[in-house]
Amino acid sequence: MYDTLRPLLFRLDPETAHHLTLGLLKWAGDLPATRELLRAMFDVQDERLAVRAFGVHFKNPIGLAAGYDKNGIAVRGLAALGFGHIEVGTVTRLPQAGNAKPRVWRVPESRALVNRMGFPNNGMQNIRLPRTDARLGVNIGKGRDTPLESAAEDYIALLQAFHAHADYIAINVSSPNTPGLRALQARDAIEPLLRQIADARAALSPRVPLLVKIAPDLSDDEIDGIVQAARDVAFDGIIATNTTVTRAGVPAYAKQWEGGLSGAPLRARSTQVIRHIAAQTRGEFPIIGVGGVSDAASALEKLHAGATLIQILTGLVYRGPRLVREINEALLRENLSQPKWVLHPA
Ligand SMILES: Cc1cc2nc3c(=O)[nH]c(=O)nc-3n(C[C@H](O)[C@H](O)[C@H](O)COP(=O)(O)O)c2cc1C
Repeated sequence: MYDTLRPLLFRLDPETAHHLTLGLLKWAGDLPATRELLRAMFDVQDERLAVRAFGVHFKNPIGLAAGYDKNGIAVRGLAALGFGHIEVGTVTRLPQAGNAKPRVWRVPESRALVNRMGFPNNGMQNIRLPRTDARLGVNIGKGRDTPLESAAEDYIALLQAFHAHADYIAINVSSPNTPGLRALQARDAIEPLLRQIADARAALSPRVPLLVKIAPDLSDDEIDGIVQAARDVAFDGIIATNTTVTRAGVPAYAKQWEGGLSGAPLRARSTQVIRHIAAQTRGEFPIIGVGGVSDAASALEKLHAGATLIQILTGLVYRGPRLVREINEALLRENLSQPKWVLHPA
C-alpha cells in the first residue's frame, strides 16, 4: 500500500506530506474499525519480543523517534502500527512556531532528510496523551527564547507536567535547530543541568525514568562526560543519537540546507556511538539506539552494538509502516536461533 502512496506523498513538500500522513494516522487511530485494521496489517504480537528497560516493560524493542508526532495527536494510530514505544515531542513549556518554512528536505538518493524545524509544538499545556499498549516517552526541550542559564527551569516545569503521563522522559540537549541548545552537552553544563532535573524528579511520585538524548557530533571524551554525569545523578539511560550537522554521504545539493541530517548517512556514526557507550558502561546503562535504521539488518546492528531499544523516523518516511513489522519478524527469527540481542529480557 505504501508503495502506491509514497510517490504521491513525495510529490508534496515534505512537511505537507507529513501532516497529511499524521492526520490520516490520527483519523485511523481514533476509529475502532480502522485501528483494528492497522493492527491486523502491521502489529506483530509475540511475547518473545518483549524487553524490559529501566524498569519498564516494552512489548517489542522498536519505537518511534521524537519529532514525528510532536504534539502526540496520533498516538493511537501509531500504536496500532505495532511500535513498542512512541516518543512524542519535542515539547516546550510554551507553544512555539518553529523556524520559517521550508524547514524539511528529502535527499532520496541518500535515503536521508535534512530538517531545521526548531521545535514547533503546541506547548505543554495543550498536549493530552492517551494510554495505549505502546509505552510513551515524552521528549522535552528548552524553549527558543529561554536563556541557557534558565534552561533547567524549563526542563523541570516540563518534567512536572508530564511525569504522570509518560513511561519515560527524554531530555533533549542535542537538537541542532535551537540556538545554543547543544552547548548544554558541555561537561561543565551537563552535570548541573541533569542534577537539577534529577532532584526535581525525586520529589515526584511515581518515579519516572529519565534519559538524555545526545548528538552524534561529539568526541569520545564529550560522550564519556555526559554518560558519567547521567550515571552520577541516577539518570536511567541515554538516547543515541539525534541528527548530525555533518554532511558526509549526501550529494552536493543537500549541503545548502542548514539543520540536522538523518537517515542512512547517520547509521554508522550512531551505531559507533552506541558501541562506545555500551563498552564504557559494560552494557549496564540502557541505550536507546537511533539513527539510520531502515531495515532488519540496520536494526539488528544497533541491538548487537548494545542498544536495548531502537527507534526509527526517517526509515518510516522512506519505507512506510511495513518496516516495523519487518524488523519485529526478523527479530523473532533471530531470537529463535541466537537470543543474543536481548540484553535485558522482560
Ligand atoms: C523532521 C524531523 C524532526 C525531528 N524532530 C526531533 C525533535 O523534535 N526532537 C528530537 O529529539 N529529535 C528530533 N528528530 C531526530 C530524530 O528523533 C532522530 O534522532 C534522528 O532523525 C535519527 O533517526 P532516523 O535516522 O531514524 O531519522 C527529528 C528528525 C527529523 C527527521
